[in-house]
Formats: sequence, structure tokens, C-alpha cells
Amino acid sequence: MTPNARVAAAIAILDDVLAGAPAEQALLRWSRASRFAGSGDRAAVRDLVFDALRRRGSWAALGGGPDARALMIGRLREEGIDPAAVFTGAGHDPLPLLDTEGYGDATVEPLRDIPHWLIPILSNDLADDLERFSQMIRDRAPVWLRVNARRGSPTEATASLARDGVTASAHADWPSALEVTDGARRMTRATAYVEGLVELQDLSPQIACLSLPLADGDRVLDYCAGGGGKALALAARARIDIEAHDADLDRMRDLPARAARAGTPVKPVDRPDGLYDLVVADVPCSGSGTWRRTPDAKWRLTSERLAELVALQTAIVSQAADHVRPGGHLAYMTCSVIRAENDGIVDQFLDARDDFTLVSRDLLLPPKGSDGFFHALLRRTEDG
Ligand SMILES: C[S@@+](CC[C@H](N)C(=O)[O-])C[C@H]1O[C@@H](n2cnc3c(N)ncnc32)[C@H](O)[C@@H]1O
Repeated sequence: MTPNARVAAAIAILDDVLAGAPAEQALLRWSRASRFAGSGDRAAVRDLVFDALRRRGSWAALGGGPDARALMIGRLREEGIDPAAVFTGAGHDPLPLLDTEGYGDATVEPLRDIPHWLIPILSNDLADDLERFSQMIRDRAPVWLRVNARRGSPTEATASLARDGVTASAHADWPSALEVTDGARRMTRATAYVEGLVELQDLSPQIACLSLPLADGDRVLDYCAGGGGKALALAARARIDIEAHDADLDRMRDLPARAARAGTPVKPVDRPDGLYDLVVADVPCSGSGTWRRTPDAKWRLTSERLAELVALQTAIVSQAADHVRPGGHLAYMTCSVIRAENDGIVDQFLDARDDFTLVSRDLLLPPKGSDGFFHALLRRTEDG
């Protein structure tokens, strides 16, 4: 495919997404119908679609309209390329520009890439960090790996990755976190990944898991385990007895295979039983801290959905707390930067429960972390 034909493909896929299709589904539909497209074409078209969703507000303004063609016009204008050179109608190029197309704002305004209704909320919640956050969610996310100490050291991991064409370097303060600087698309075929020496996990949840109190022999419950990312990170740290629970059992279907690959036993449980030294509640959330990875979710969030999530988080934290032994810990986590889902839930919980005290809380963002991620640690009193 020519570069211009890739733009035409991105427009067709974005039409589908703007009509309500989830981005991954729309891409899959296009992929299946486009046998002529090679792997390079597929990756390039995917990047165009995801970049357009990350920058939908600013590209719409630059491109002079909210539709898929305007988004691609906006992209070209941001890159200093004349849209008329791409929208030629020749071969598989997008159809020529209409007289009414191609005119919009002249300058990029990153705040437009935050849904309008959330700007006052995030201005209040993030204050001085808002500008950095709005810039961050316009760009592709870096790829971070967690070295699984059960399988080897960070040095062994970087050497193994290098043999498979993946360049990664360790974080200065958290050496078991490696940032992939080259060859990310080869990652999932690399021996280190296939054999469980490294796992894909963003830096921020890695920091949150490394910050938790953990000792050999501890009984630990991952209350919202999903795919088991946090459970596996904890199981790699110490010889713990870890159980994984999720309201939706199907979400944990890959966990036994992942745990076997990592050499870290994790036991899925239907119903948590008894009390635990540590309970992790990595609750469902808006995902606002990870919007650069799932940019269509950003445009789907509504204030009604946010209120539902806050109600769910309030209920889950209280259920999870009941499984903490006296003197044990409860870790509350979200990949959100919205205060109502973070400090709001923790404060409300502490007001309602005098058997818990706050140990620490932190909102991770670059440069301290990577994705936006909130984690709070609470301790149950000895007589709680
Ligand atoms: C943010 S995801 C967890 C991600 C996971 N911890 C990981 O690291 O891969 C939240 C999970 O909470 C689960 N969930 C939703 N409501 C729940 C509830 N009432 N009790 C327990 N889990 C719940 C969802 O099914 C979802 O898998």
C-alpha cells in the first residue's frame, strides 16, 4: 500500500469507529477484508487510527470538522504536509478535497484532546499537572517490561532480549523495570517473553506492586485479578500463597497459563475464604491514566458512567476490606487520574471505617511513573 492508500484505509476505519464501533473491532474488520495489506501496512494503518483517536479533538479543530477525513486533514496539517498532496483521488488515494474541506484552526491545542466535560474536573484534580497530562495522552505509550526474578536477573533479561533484536534498558530506581527503546513489535516473539523471563507491564503498576509490604509465607488476595498482572508481579517478589478472585471468572481464564509460564503459582478462587495478610483491590475504573493506550475509551466515558464506577469502587473497597486480617493491609489501586475515583474513595472509606488507617497514597505520572496510576495502602488496626 502507498502512504496515501494507508490514509484512505484509516479514514474508512475511523468512519466505523466514529459511528460507534470499538477501535479494535473496526481494525479487525478492515484487516479481514484487506488480504492485500502486508504486516507493515497493518501496523501503519493501526498507528494512524490510534493516533487520530488520541488527538481527535485537536485534529478535528485543525482539519475543520469532526469526521474521519477532517481528522486525517488535521494530522497532515499538524505535520506540515499539504492535504491536497494526499487527497488526490488517484489510485487508492483518498478522494480529492472538497472546496469546504481543509480549513480549521492554525495552531495545535492539546487540551482539545481531553473530553470537554472533563476539563474543569481535571483542572481541579491535576492542577499544575494538567498540561503535562494532556500532552502525554496525545502520544503513544512507551513499552515497559517487568523482569520476573523467578526466571532471571535484569542483566540476563536485557541480554536475551538483545539477541532477539529488542533493545531495553533498566529504570535507574526500579531496576526490574525495563523500558523497550527499540524492537517493541518483536517483543512477544522474543525468547525472554515466551519463556516468562519478562512480562509486559507498565512502570507505574510495577512501582505500586514493589511498594507493597510482602514477606515469604504471607497469604495474599488479589480481589479484582482480571488477567492477573498484579498477582503475578507480587508472586514474583516473595514465596507467598496468592489467590486470585474476580467477579467475572472468565477474565481470569489466561491466568493459569501465564502463571505457569512465569513459574509463579497463583490460585484462582471463586470465593475468597477467611482473612489475608494483604488484599489488593485493583478496581474497575475510567482508565483515564491509560488513555494513550485505549484512546477510544476516552471519548466514550460519560459523567453517568463515571458516577457508576465510583459507586462500584465504593462497594468493592468495602468488600475487599472485610478480607484483611487485623494488622494486615489493603491496597487500593486504579489506573485513573480522576480524584473522585482515587482520594475520593479512600477518604470516604476512612470516614466510614475506623478500623483502618492510611499508610500512604500516591498518584504516579511521568516522570516519576509512566501511565497515570493511583495507589493507596491502608492498614487494619490490630483490634479491627
Ligand atoms: C482493573 S481490572 C483488574 C486488572 C488486573 N488486576 C490486572 O492487573 O491485570 C478490574 C477487574 O475487576 C473486576 N470486577 C468488577 N467488579 C468486581 C467486583 N464487584 N468484585 C471483584 N472484581 C470485580 C473486573 O471483572 C475486572 O477484571
